[in-house]
Amino acid sequence: MIPHVLYGGDYNPEQWPEEVWLEDVALMREAGVNLATVGVFSWALLEPEPGRYDFDWLDRLLDLLAANGIFANLATATASPPAWLAHRHPESLPVTRDGAILWPGARQHYCPSSVAYRQAAAALVERLAARYADHPSLAMWHINNELGCHVAACYCDRSAECFREWLRGRHGSLDELNDAWGTAFWSQRYGDWDEILPPRPTPTWHNPSQELDWHRFGSDTLLELLEAEREILERLSPGVPITTNFMRFFKPSNYWEWAKRVDFTADDPYPDPSDPASVRERAAGGDLMRSLKHGAPWLVMEQAANAVNWRQRNVPKHPGQMRLGSYQSLARGADGILFFQWRASKAGAEKFHSGMVPHGGTATRTWREIVELGNELAKLDDVVGTRVRAHVAIAFDWESWWALEVPSKPSHDLLLLDQVERWYRALWERNLAVDFAYPGDDLSHYRLVIAPNLYLVSDATVANLERFVAGGGTLVLSFFSGIADERDHIRLGGYPAPFRRLLGIVVPEFWPHADGETRTVTLNGERYTCELWSDWIELEGAEAVAVHEDGWLSGRPAATRNGSAWYVGTQLDSAALGVLVGQLADETNVAPPLFVPAGVEVVKREGDGRSFLFLLNHTAGEAEVALDGTYRDMLADKEGSDTLVLEPFGVSLLRTS
Ligand code: GAL
Ligand code: ZN
Repeated sequence: MIPHVLYGGDYNPEQWPEEVWLEDVALMREAGVNLATVGVFSWALLEPEPGRYDFDWLDRLLDLLAANGIFANLATATASPPAWLAHRHPESLPVTRDGAILWPGARQHYCPSSVAYRQAAAALVERLAARYADHPSLAMWHINNELGCHVAACYCDRSAECFREWLRGRHGSLDELNDAWGTAFWSQRYGDWDEILPPRPTPTWHNPSQELDWHRFGSDTLLELLEAEREILERLSPGVPITTNFMRFFKPSNYWEWAKRVDFTADDPYPDPSDPASVRERAAGGDLMRSLKHGAPWLVMEQAANAVNWRQRNVPKHPGQMRLGSYQSLARGADGILFFQWRASKAGAEKFHSGMVPHGGTATRTWREIVELGNELAKLDDVVGTRVRAHVAIAFDWESWWALEVPSKPSHDLLLLDQVERWYRALWERNLAVDFAYPGDDLSHYRLVIAPNLYLVSDATVANLERFVAGGGTLVLSFFSGIADERDHIRLGGYPAPFRRLLGIVVPEFWPHADGETRTVTLNGERYTCELWSDWIELEGAEAVAVHEDGWLSGRPAATRNGSAWYVGTQLDSAALGVLVGQLADETNVAPPLFVPAGVEVVKREGDGRSFLFLLNHTAGEAEVALDGTYRDMLADKEGSDTLVLEPFGVSLLRTS
């Protein structure tokens, strides 16, 4: 695309008089900005009345950007409809599960299935695409904005109709649907399609299979919006890359499917500067973005230059923290760092959200940090296009996530992201590169695959995991895996039925813990605790790796292995999980790119004969790193060997070949 690290942000010039635009582009040049995201919330200005379009201001703006060598990430402006849409088409407004209408006055006030919204959005995108396809500033198209971030699903009558249509497509006949949903239970049988509703409030639990299909429908519906725009852009503006901003582990959208529809992925990381865990969250989000496109570089579409305005308490980023986070994303495969937003607004609901140009202007440390980072990134062209290579993957499947968290389960405190975070942390602390992988995809290039709580599995996924192990891979499944099929029906035959042979165990009973109840386990002769959940495990060929030491399960296995198929039947404490992950890494011959002190993150990017080590100090003290050779420090612009000292929250980027 552009052979430089992309740098810039959401640029909303419509909030400012045109004199300010000139200052904007001058400042952008000073900061090394090469990409501006334009038009995200411009619909009301671009189409002030239905069917009357005004592109003059956008023409002038894009010309100005082009004249200054700044590329445009041109948004399709469909994220927030003008007030006239709801006024003319009140039925286009979204309805919550409880039946409340979400009115205009904020943003994203449209039902994803609304015909009026879809028609008006398509008409706008047609005009934008036709007008700007050949504009010299156009670098990429930005579809909508954070699709579904406020309204991921609508429960209105139109949405109900679309749900029924979708169900016909999936199940074919009412008999099939009744069977799939297990409607023999509680007298739920449907005799007519029109009787079927979205899961609106009910006296008690919904039918879980209905809930699961509702999740699928919701994800597909938002994806239809993306698809509709993409079709127009590809037709009228062929060859220009298309993306949209993803939201990492966003539950409503099955991003494995989404990623197929964009040319590259982009993410909006907003880690909480006051929360130490947010460092890992950002790393994991980056790993997911990279993995969704099987290793391809991705883009930080938005991050904050300093504080946000939407938390209960909005703690600023301390000096160096914005830079550190930016390099963290680069380390994990991003090829660009953009912000929300260029110039902090002076009015509106986000006026206390930081911008690259703060209210205080250029005499601020935020601006200085923005300029410094931009000028640093300008030296990193060689990093662009290189990749992170991981030998470890965490299996992640949205459908299983949805089904796992539909209520009426043995424990409602078993939440997928909590569990993923525990495994991720153990890997992150050892600096082991990790991808996320769809469990049905080819896994043969990994040595170790960890599948936390893979509750729902299709036959194809089961076969795929078996193939992976047969091919020499090491697989770890954790409790409550392989329990249900795609309809959320129990897989009978003794839990975890489809994996019973592979794992060499059977689980006759689940033993969720009472709130706060910990138990003791031994692993490699040491005692640890476990929480939340334990399985009653019986061995059928596997050997015990960890053993329960107390309570009713005393003497029974807590974790097992059957050759290279491992099972962890409880939530181990982080020390135990660390030991286990260390053992798995040793056995599978997976090592960090460099051994570094705790709190320092090290990630390698490589490709085309180039290779780089990113060293990120997440601690408030200096960190000494012992190097294993002589490297060029690209940021300090000097050779380094033996020992390297990282400043508190400091970054080093070493070129190793
Ligand atoms: C994002 C959104 C931006 C802005 C930002 C503030 O979710 O895409 O438009 O609202 O949050 O942090
Ligand atoms: Zn609706």
